[in-house]
Amino acid sequence: MRKFGLIGHPLTHSFSKKYFTEKFEKEGIEGCLYELYDIPNARELERILNEDPEIEGINVTIPHKEDVIALLDELDEACEEIGAVNCIHIQDGMLTGYNTDYIGFKNSLVPWLGAVKPKALVLGTGGASKAVKQALYALGIEFLNVSRSEDEDQITYDDLASDPEIMKTHHLIVNTTPLGTFPHVDGIPAIPLEQLTSAHFVYDLVYNPSETALMKACLAKGGKAKNGHEMLILQAEAAWKIWNS
Ligand SMILES: NC(=O)c1ccc[n+]([C@@H]2O[C@H](COP(=O)([O-])OP(=O)(O)OC[C@H]3O[C@@H](n4cnc5c(N)ncnc54)[C@H](OP(=O)(O)O)[C@@H]3O)[C@@H](O)[C@H]2O)c1
Repeated sequence: MRKFGLIGHPLTHSFSKKYFTEKFEKEGIEGCLYELYDIPNARELERILNEDPEIEGINVTIPHKEDVIALLDELDEACEEIGAVNCIHIQDGMLTGYNTDYIGFKNSLVPWLGAVKPKALVLGTGGASKAVKQALYALGIEFLNVSRSEDEDQITYDDLASDPEIMKTHHLIVNTTPLGTFPHVDGIPAIPLEQLTSAHFVYDLVYNPSETALMKACLAKGGKAKNGHEMLILQAEAAWKIWNS
């Protein structure tokens, strides 16, 4: 039996378990199992792997994406820059860490933008924002990071509201905050919505609902909008490719 799974805490609902279990069934992939490992401490991964040598791949979610790095033998280059791991490949006892959010975001952004390469605003400074920023950097897309807190590497929502030049010159807006997620569907980041134009692109990492309040605001101005569903699928498929490499 080839085994795969997800570590995190708490693991209430899991997209990954549903996705991989359905994938194995739909695609007739036999002898594979995807399990959930709800562990409060990332160190427990060592015990799980010792107890079950059939485990070949692990996805990692909140709160272990950073802590797990100390347990790995190698890190993929992009992952090293990001400082967060959401996928581990176990081969002959060697543990290699990857960040498939980075791959999923990058590979879904490029075809969506087409020939244009607008400057970007990245809303939020959590784990997902790190993968997004590394992808933008790799693509040569300049960006500003927008946060509720002041820091030398980022601007605040107040800075954004007080300088209309920023929205005029940054046409790609990537929401990496959870604002707008079901059931709080009216949630919307505090950007100056009245400054959105038909030249703007909103990429919202939120995928439930499929059209968030922020996406609606951009579409209403004639701009383009995309949710996080394709990124979610691409990051899962990137993990599958890594585990089979
Ligand atoms: N589509 C996909 O494949 C995919 C992949 C990964 C994540 N996601 C989604 O992306 C979102 C963020 O994930 P994450 O892991 O980065 O979460 P996280 O670590 O909790 O970070 C979210 C960031 O958003 C900002 N934020 C949080 N609450 C806020 C609020 N009430 N108002 C304004 N800003 C707020 C914070 O930045 P500041 O404190 O700096 O403002 C925070 O660091 C989640 O909704 C997650 O489901 C989607």
